[in-house]
Amino acid sequence: MTIKENHLYIGSFKASDLAKRYGTPVIIYDEEEIKKQIEAFIKYFKSNKYQTHIVYASKAYLSPYICQLIDDYQMEIDVVSLGDLYLVESSGFPLSKVLFHGNNKSLAELEYAVSHKVGIIVVDNYDELMTIMELAEKYQTVVNTMFRINPGIEASTHEYIQTSLLSSKFGESIFDEETIDKVMKLYEKNHLVHLLGFHAHIGSQIVSEKPFIASAKTLIEFTKKIQDQYNYKLSAVNLGGGFGIKYLDSDEECDLSHTLPKMIESIDELINEYELSISDIYIEPGRSIVGKAGFTLYQAGIIKRTYGGKNFLFVDGGMTDNIRPALYQAKYTVKIVDKMEDKPILKVDVVGKCCESGDIVSKDVMIPMVSKGDYVGVFVTGAYGYAMASNYNGALKPPVIFVSNDKIKVVSRKESVKDLMKLY
Ligand code: LLP
Repeated sequence: MTIKENHLYIGSFKASDLAKRYGTPVIIYDEEEIKKQIEAFIKYFKSNKYQTHIVYASKAYLSPYICQLIDDYQMEIDVVSLGDLYLVESSGFPLSKVLFHGNNKSLAELEYAVSHKVGIIVVDNYDELMTIMELAEKYQTVVNTMFRINPGIEASTHEYIQTSLLSSKFGESIFDEETIDKVMKLYEKNHLVHLLGFHAHIGSQIVSEKPFIASAKTLIEFTKKIQDQYNYKLSAVNLGGGFGIKYLDSDEECDLSHTLPKMIESIDELINEYELSISDIYIEPGRSIVGKAGFTLYQAGIIKRTYGGKNFLFVDGGMTDNIRPALYQAKYTVKIVDKMEDKPILKVDVVGKCCESGDIVSKDVMIPMVSKGDYVGVFVTGAYGYAMASNYNGALKPPVIFVSNDKIKVVSRKESVKDLMKLY
């Protein structure tokens, strides 16, 4: 993204021209930014000793087009439901390169995964493992799994996106020896369902490297303990995702060039010390791949000055295309895309059009003089924006377009009012 003569450009396109062409709201991804992030992961998460796997956490943003992009880089994808699996498979992405997550996978989902030979199922609990074993028997097929553990590491992020506190619903705690023993006894006896290694994901939007290193080390120590106790050879470790990005200029972000090599280095030391046979190391970044590349354009309605003295700038979208401010008090940078260099003069809350006071795009934003009809840009909306969009209040999902320098690809069209009737 660049600024030329007061206007914002995405690739070679003026943002406001895109708004005129595709209508508002519209979600625009700068494909070059996604590629840059992917290339950073490939550059910094590599090793001469281990096979490193970068698994795109598709919950951040999923479409057939992103699946193709991920495939071009020979990366893997993680999914969390039959819906995700179906979309990924229909995009032509090889299911052998898919990891299937979820804390409460249904029988139908597991049966689909086993019978369609999904690459790896990340098992959440004992009961799920039993079901997978029954299905492996039914289909007489080998199933590769990882088992999700909770390392009990605290990551300083919003409590809704912390996943590893001892009260979290995900995985089994490494301190719950009884459950782990039951799980390992099942694996020991079964010859169709293989345990490749353990998985942990401690939370999302983590900017400091410390919790990543702590979790990685705990995973290796746990691997060593289990290997010794059960004489079960483990070949992999999955360190999860959660690499934080900058939403506001004042935010910090996870320094990939430092954190990723450090993660490999710190576990390598332990793998050597414990003489483990780990050959494969996985990470699962989502937000850090697509977050910064995404951008949402709205059109301004009026500025309402309330009797109590508060200013609201109305826009034609809101919590239906980005629920993060309502759910996590997330903050965003907002600009008037044809007035990029005008002096900010007014403090407003940028709000959407839902019948909901929490329908906020960004609070306390300084903006220049705005007229009804101006285009309002919200930066860094590429992760968990469209993915969490809803039809609340009859909102139509916006179109998603990818810009790559002077090329445009409409990845998904705008929903129509007729689409709203498709279930009835
Ligand atoms: N792996 C697992 C097992 C996960 O549960 C997640 C995210 C990821 C990887 C990817 O995390 P990332 O690299 O994107 O931080 N809706 C929330 C975020 C929820 C994250 C859920 N799990 C938000 O908008 O902040």
